[in-house]
Amino acid sequence: MKVLGLETSCDETGIAIYDTENGLLAHKIYSQIAQHAEYGGVVPELASRDHVRKTLPLIDEVLQEANMTKQELDAIAYTSGPGLVGALMAGATIGRSLAYSLNIPALGVHHMEGHLLAPMLEEKQPAMPFIALLVSGGHTQLVRVDGIGQYRLLGQSLDDAAGEAFDKAAKMIGLPYPGGPQIAALAKQGSSQSGLKFPRPMTDRPGLDFSFSGLKTAFLTAVHSALDEGRCDEQFKADAALAFETAVVDTLVIKCRRALEAEGLKQLIIAGGVSANQRLREQLESQLKKIKASVFYARPEFCTDNGAMIAYAGAQRLVKGQSSPLNLSIRARWPL
Ligand code: KG4
Ligand code: ZN
Repeated sequence: MKVLGLETSCDETGIAIYDTENGLLAHKIYSQIAQHAEYGGVVPELASRDHVRKTLPLIDEVLQEANMTKQELDAIAYTSGPGLVGALMAGATIGRSLAYSLNIPALGVHHMEGHLLAPMLEEKQPAMPFIALLVSGGHTQLVRVDGIGQYRLLGQSLDDAAGEAFDKAAKMIGLPYPGGPQIAALAKQGSSQSGLKFPRPMTDRPGLDFSFSGLKTAFLTAVHSALDEGRCDEQFKADAALAFETAVVDTLVIKCRRALEAEGLKQLIIAGGVSANQRLREQLESQLKKIKASVFYARPEFCTDNGAMIAYAGAQRLVKGQSSPLNLSIRARWPL
C-alpha cells in the first residue's frame, strides 16, 4: 500500500510517499527557516501561509519522483497535532480534501509518533519492545514502546524541552534560530579545559524526568559575567557552547541509561531534532556499550521534521485497519 505523508506542524513542509512493500519511494522537505530567522523564532501566521503555498506543488514533485499518479495512492496521512494550529490546518485540510476527492482513507498522525518511528525508515532497526528518547524543540520524553500505538510515558521535561534550551542558549550568544546545530558547530571550537561547567539537572536523584530551565539560567549567568568582565569574546562563546552541549548530552545519556536499566531493555531509539546531535550519538554509543545496549537513530534529515516519518506512521496505522473521519479536528496539544 502506498501512503502519501504530509507534515506541516511547524516550519517545514515535508511530503513523502511510503510503500509498505518497497519502502520510501520519494520525499521532499521545504524549510521555511530562512523566513523565520530574522524574527528569532517561528512566526505562526507566516508558517501557515507558506504551507498553503508549498504543499500542493511538493505533492506533485514527490508523485513525479516516485513515477506515480495520485490515483495510485492508497491513503493520505497528515500530521494532526501537536503543533501550530494554523500550520496543522493547512496540511490537514489539503490532506483530507485530497483523500475525499480520491475516495481513499485519510489518517491523522501524531507528530511525535512520526518522530518516534522515523528510525524504522533506516536499515538498522530495533525490534520492539524498546525505549525511545524523543528530543525536539517542543518535547523531551522517554517512552517505552511495545508496539505501534502502545506507548508508555516514563519521564518528560518538567519545563523547557532540550531543543528549546539549545535555541534559547544560542540566542543569548547571538546565534540564529534554530540554535541546536549552531551551538553544536560552535562547540567544535570550544576547549574542554576552559573551566566552564554547567549542571546536569535532576541526575542526582532517582526518576526519569528532566528539567532544562535551570541549565539555561546557568548559561545566561555565565554569559552575563563574561560580558561584565569584558571577556565575552569568540573563544568564550565557543567554550560556553561546548560546556552547554556537554551538559545537555550528559543529562540525556544518564536518563536513557537509567530508563533502559529500569525497564530491563537493551535497545534505545533517539528521535526528534536534537537526535541529530553528533555528540549525543557518540556518547550514547559509548555509554550504552558498557551495559550491552545499542542505540538506533534516523539519518539527520529524518531527525528534524519531515514527511517520510508521517507517511511511515500512517502506513503502520493503515495496516492495522485504522483511518480518521473526515471531520477529525487537529490538536495543538496532544499527549502521545
Ligand atoms: O523535531 P524538530 O525538527 O521540530 C520540533 O518538532 O520541535 O526539532 C527542532 C529542534 C530545535 O530546537 C533545534 O535547535 C534542535 O531540534 N536541533 C538540534 C540539532 N539539530 C536540530 N539540537 C542539537 N543539535 C543538533 N545537531
Ligand atoms: Zn518535530
